[in-house]
Amino acid sequence: MSQLSRRPEHAVVGQALRHESAALHVTGRALYTDDLTPRTKDVLHAWPVQAPHAHASVLALRTGPAHDVPGVVRVLTADDVPGVNDAGTKGDEPLFPSEVCFYGHAVAWVLGETLEATRLGAAAVEVDYEPLPALVSVADAIAADSFQGARPTVARGDVEAGLARAAHTFSGTTEMAGQEHFYLETHASLATVEDDGRIFVQCSTQHPSETQEIVAHVLGLHSHEVTVQCLRMGGGFGGKEMQPHGYAAIAALGARLTGRPVRLRLNRTQDLTMSGKRHGFHATWRVGFAEDGRLEALEATLTSDGGWGLDLSEPVLARALCHVDNAYWIPDVRLTGRVSRTHKTSQTAFRGFGGPQGMLVLEDILGRCAPLLGIEPHELRRRNLYENGQHTPYGQVITQADRLVRAWDQVTESAELERRRAEVARFNSTHEHVRRGLAITPVKFGISFNFTAFNQAGALVHVYKDGSVLVNHGGTEMGQGLHTKMLQVAATSLGVPLERVRLAPTRTDKVPNTSATAASSGADLNGGAVKHACEQIRQRLDAVDAGRGLPWEELVRTAYLERVQLFAAGYYRTEGLDWDPSVMRGSPFKYFAHGVAATEVEVDGFTGAYRTRRVDIVHDVGDSLSPLVDLGQIEGGFVQGCGWLTLEDLRWDESDGEHRGRLLTRSASTYKLPSLSELPEELHVALLERAHEEGAVYGSKAVGEPPLMLAFSMREALRQACAAFGPAGTSVDLASPATPEAVYWALDAARSAAPERSGSPEPGAALVELSEA
Ligand code: MTE
Ligand code: MOS
Repeated sequence: MSQLSRRPEHAVVGQALRHESAALHVTGRALYTDDLTPRTKDVLHAWPVQAPHAHASVLALRTGPAHDVPGVVRVLTADDVPGVNDAGTKGDEPLFPSEVCFYGHAVAWVLGETLEATRLGAAAVEVDYEPLPALVSVADAIAADSFQGARPTVARGDVEAGLARAAHTFSGTTEMAGQEHFYLETHASLATVEDDGRIFVQCSTQHPSETQEIVAHVLGLHSHEVTVQCLRMGGGFGGKEMQPHGYAAIAALGARLTGRPVRLRLNRTQDLTMSGKRHGFHATWRVGFAEDGRLEALEATLTSDGGWGLDLSEPVLARALCHVDNAYWIPDVRLTGRVSRTHKTSQTAFRGFGGPQGMLVLEDILGRCAPLLGIEPHELRRRNLYENGQHTPYGQVITQADRLVRAWDQVTESAELERRRAEVARFNSTHEHVRRGLAITPVKFGISFNFTAFNQAGALVHVYKDGSVLVNHGGTEMGQGLHTKMLQVAATSLGVPLERVRLAPTRTDKVPNTSATAASSGADLNGGAVKHACEQIRQRLDAVDAGRGLPWEELVRTAYLERVQLFAAGYYRTEGLDWDPSVMRGSPFKYFAHGVAATEVEVDGFTGAYRTRRVDIVHDVGDSLSPLVDLGQIEGGFVQGCGWLTLEDLRWDESDGEHRGRLLTRSASTYKLPSLSELPEELHVALLERAHEEGAVYGSKAVGEPPLMLAFSMREALRQACAAFGPAGTSVDLASPATPEAVYWALDAARSAAPERSGSPEPGAALVELSEA
């Protein structure tokens, strides 16, 4: 790896290690929350009573019949809540609602000796509903003026003047769908009551501290009476940042009322129909370009589909607005955002946290406008890349634009784009029914929580008398390899071999007030805290050693006998952040992560079916803490992004029938995830060299989310392949997700495009409508 010289000689940081639990994962010995159930005595199961309406009042709820079902122990309703009947932090998510807000909303929970008893018990609960009109699509919500939360604006300069100045202006609409997390492990909690009424909840959660707070407020307890532990998650992807809290609270409430352990694990259909997803977005925009294709101005309104409650919709929207620029300089800009309120699951965090949706707007604009400007898409993108010293629309200075350019040039060279573009053109001119597209797109993604206070972390490191080391930190492991990195940081900063160090499960009684493991900042924040703790211990040990160079075990034993403290708490907070959310201005990010990807696809003109021939990626992870882990994150993120943009097609019943608002894609048979057969035939990933990040832990950069957006290159390649079915200069409006069906309609439209409708507009021409707004 580059820059290893900056690190200690014996560094384990930077070594290519496999995931710390890899062997446990593949042998099935890794324990997940629900694996604890069979090891727990007298466990009760929980089953939701799900409403069969998208919107309705609950007129009456009769639990009596459920109690006649053998094995049913108790039915939980709003009357049972000793504290606050709310599962969120905004007061808009009643745990037991009196108004049903989405199809499948749980109005009560049944506890029983067996899962089967709870299922039959839930079916026996009698609920009288009064159905109410339901808003299912964002369009419905906009028409009904149904919004929730703040309506922020990011603006700079004078967008009207910029549009007036522009040689070419276009307007249009961009719509994109949401995405289901489809983590392998569904939501799971196991709650037990300890002596004196204290509650212990094992939970599959990215945010144990907030789960603890919600459980406490539902039960009317203080935080010190509730402990939450997360062993590991079988995937979170943002879906377990906010959404586990209510389920944990149900389990805890059940345990409190019955005195028995309560286990709640959603089955797949329950998870799909009850838990929030990535926000779909709807955007309208006006854009202006100079004669040479440089962006002059952009005005856009982004409306997200928030679902029934706010959840994380406001911060997701803020990140979306802060990422519309992606990697491009736009002089005059005004971006307005709003969250629609629809009768669907409450949409939530998902890898990228709104960033992908914001960036997609501008990438869509560039992809559609390039042919109309008569500029090659790669040239249009390259020409608009940021330069150092320029500022983002919200005012943060750009200092690493050279990395974007280096990654761009490296992909261009290593993927032989010039040669292959000519090859694609040749192929397209000789194949009537199959066409290829080859596109390159950049990613620039801000690292840090937009909400400044979240940018802190803690750790607790113990050195035992035998020289072994136990590390606690506030982050959670969901497969991303955070624990692997933390082991490397601890071993490196203590100066011991990796085998000496172990990680403890994440617990709120070890490290308090933690932030969610999210925003890709897990390694930055917790790594800073672990390092801080280890350095304190190292300092004390160095004093004991006094230059003698004692072996580790002897040094530790000596220090103990000399009564030197062998454990330490570490703390880290990100310096240099400056963000005013009231005006959406400042420098909210510690730094930006960068990446560039080039993708080649081949599209069948009869069916719209496509395959990915080759993908080349160069991604900036700083000096990688753990190169194998980072490669896994880049590949996984890219593929998950391709899933969002091309395959995964969430459908809700928008008919006026009795199932209006019901999620139609509520199983793996109807919701298509990327599988081996859709993977690129060739996938080359390189880490950007000479990428040391000053001020971050061991010069590394966050990697969890940014690679997802490299998948834009696949969408743009599909667009270009579709365009190749039409006359030169055809602008293709491609739906998102670009499923084979959507690709077919796009290429069919291109095929039948009249030549005069394409080509660049007259300079100074009035706003060209690309689609009806
Ligand atoms: N990788 C795996 N295998 N599983 C996951 O659930 N979540 C992603 C990303 N990579 C995820 C993952 C998301 S949404 C985030 S924010 C980061 O990991 C969180 O972990 P980090 O901050 O340690 O990178
Ligand atoms: Mo990731 S969406 O920030 O959990």
